[in-house]
Amino acid sequence: MNGRFSMVRAAQGLVAASMLLAGATGALAQERFSLFVPSAQPTVERLVKLARIQDNDVVVDLGSGDGRIVLTAARDNPKVRGWGVDINESLVRQSNEAAKKQGVADRVQFYHRNVFDADIRDVTVINMWLFPELMRLLRPKILAEARPGTRVLTHLFDMGSWQADEWDKEAGSSVGLWIVPAKVEGYWSWQSTINGIPFTHDAILEQRFQMAEGVTRAGNRRGILQNVRLRGEDFSFSVEMTLDGVGLTRHDFAGKVNGDQIKGTVKVSTPDGKNVELPWLARRTTTTAYFRPTGVETK
Ligand SMILES: C[S@@+](CC[C@H](N)C(=O)[O-])C[C@H]1O[C@@H](n2cnc3c(N)ncnc32)[C@H](O)[C@@H]1O
Repeated sequence: MNGRFSMVRAAQGLVAASMLLAGATGALAQERFSLFVPSAQPTVERLVKLARIQDNDVVVDLGSGDGRIVLTAARDNPKVRGWGVDINESLVRQSNEAAKKQGVADRVQFYHRNVFDADIRDVTVINMWLFPELMRLLRPKILAEARPGTRVLTHLFDMGSWQADEWDKEAGSSVGLWIVPAKVEGYWSWQSTINGIPFTHDAILEQRFQMAEGVTRAGNRRGILQNVRLRGEDFSFSVEMTLDGVGLTRHDFAGKVNGDQIKGTVKVSTPDGKNVELPWLARRTTTTAYFRPTGVETK
């Protein structure tokens, strides 16, 4: 049976089963998700392709079924390692046997484990094709535990309000890629010297998944971050604002977020036609000068 229709039919059955289970215990409530429908092999190939798997990737499948996704990734690249977890013990056994048969058991293992207990801190690619409710329940775990830049893939279903970074669209079987974003929300500060004048920037960033926006202050001038782009740990934006003693200045920032630091470069264009590229080091701060009194100009 075609994977999509069987999964959709299964989802319809799930609603009825959920109603019956409404009064069940927490343990039972999780069991109701444990339905096995394998992804069709052409879909597996598209998932692996969209993940752009490279040497040294660690590819996992949360709810690995018969192991086909991790096994396909390992077959395609001998430098890839991977593992899967499944709640169904006989599928886990079958997957480990397949790994042995295909000669990849040294690089690929399957465990009888609940997806919520999987350690995803050191993986680079996460596949999952579970009912939307279960993927929604797993979303905070992925965003909290997986490293920025981890590629998350699924098909047919989505991640709710966390928009995909890319889709490989095909009627009835779209495959999606989500990239775990670095955490940039909060207060940041950095220094720069332009035309010999030192400036301290105090920025405030707001974030929802990979969507970020922000504002910054230098002296008594403020500017809005434009063209903000956050993809994994790669973060860039531009700011056009007047700097006292310099004039209207354009900044193009690009860097990598690493915990409480962002390191990169800023291209600065000043009104006298100068273009310079400077190192950029932003640090997370607990308080911000953004809110300090601004005052009014006196004649
Ligand atoms: C739709 S199948 C997908 C199998 C495989 N990922 C694929 O795409 O071919 C979902 C799998 O998730 C497993 N599963 C469901 N709930 C789980 C849970 N809470 N923990 C671990 N595995 C689970 C099921 O046993 C089933 O094998």
